[in-house]
Amino acid sequence: MQFRRLGRTNLKVSEIGFGAWGIGKAWWGHTEDALSIRALLRAFELGVNFIDTAYGYGDGHSERLIAEAVQAFRERVIVATKVPLKTRGWPPPPDTPGKEAFPSAWIIEHTEKSLRNLKTDCIDVQQLHIWRDEWVEETEWRTAVEQLKRQGKIRFFGVSLIDHAPETGLAVVRSGLVDAVQVIYNIFDQSPAQELFPLCQQMDVGVIARVPLDEGGLTGKLRPDMSLDPDTLQGFYFRGERLQETCARADRLRSFLRDGVETLPKLALQFCLSHPAVSTVIPGMRRSAHVEENCAVSGAPPLRADELAGLKAHAWPRNFYQ
Ligand SMILES: NC(=O)c1ccc[n+]([C@@H]2O[C@H](COP(=O)([O-])OP(=O)(O)OC[C@H]3O[C@@H](n4cnc5c(N)ncnc54)[C@H](OP(=O)(O)O)[C@@H]3O)[C@@H](O)[C@H]2O)c1
Repeated sequence: MQFRRLGRTNLKVSEIGFGAWGIGKAWWGHTEDALSIRALLRAFELGVNFIDTAYGYGDGHSERLIAEAVQAFRERVIVATKVPLKTRGWPPPPDTPGKEAFPSAWIIEHTEKSLRNLKTDCIDVQQLHIWRDEWVEETEWRTAVEQLKRQGKIRFFGVSLIDHAPETGLAVVRSGLVDAVQVIYNIFDQSPAQELFPLCQQMDVGVIARVPLDEGGLTGKLRPDMSLDPDTLQGFYFRGERLQETCARADRLRSFLRDGVETLPKLALQFCLSHPAVSTVIPGMRRSAHVEENCAVSGAPPLRADELAGLKAHAWPRNFYQ
């Protein structure tokens, strides 16, 4: 496993991080906790030292599983979690005041809850689960972050940006108030490379690249005739004609497979790691086989310039979360 700086935090994070939404089971359907723990342990064995979770991933279930798995690795594992949004509506409408979305007391209360779930005294990276640049000048969230840092309850602070809208985090990156940002970045959504990534490099802000496999669309494991449970994220995301179109587009990417990049998940993860602004890429993983395949990507040579140029034509702007 190779490691990269998480921007100004100077933390050395594994290129492949562990996306821990699925193990929380919230909206991902049932999975056995024992399998999730095994996947986490396998990831630690293979050198993964960065986990991204959230209080919202099963009301702390994902955090509690991480606390259980991490015991023997606590000294070297870096955990990032998130404060849930207080108001309704996802994403919050532009006129939502920051002091209502993330009141100070709410940020502090949920940080305390996450500390208990994670069985730790200090969260390495606390993030707001969603962000709007309209809030950048507000004091409410800043007061809580300053207090938590002063008390040693969080080491670093970041924000997770609105789906497919990297431009909604440019002001906060420019403000110098965040140590890291989390953003959707994958072969279908290459938009962060336009403005956000160069700005993060300039401001030395760490980049956590999320949803690298397009919620499964870039794994090559979906089939157009599959029946997905409509009550799960994937059933919602790939509903109707979407599944067929996604499979067709993923199939077209097979022409990029070669020695060293033998599968679509490898291509998708290599794509993310080929951008120098990316500190870590966090595929969601619930099983050890996926952990092994994904960890094998780290340290492989980056995709060639001609491959990256070719992949530009496969960008597919759309929002399946709506
Ligand atoms: N708003 C936010 O802040 C936000 C939103 C979304 C995600 N996130 C974070 O980003 C992480 C990643 O996103 P995600 O989990 O939603 O989506 P993702 O990483 O794009 O895709 C996850 C899916 O890919 C499958 N997978 C992983 N490796 C595979 C492999 N090698 N071969 C075949 N299938 C593979 C997983 O299967 P298994 O689960 O069966 O292993 C799961 O079905 C989340 O876990 C979470 O930490 C944050």
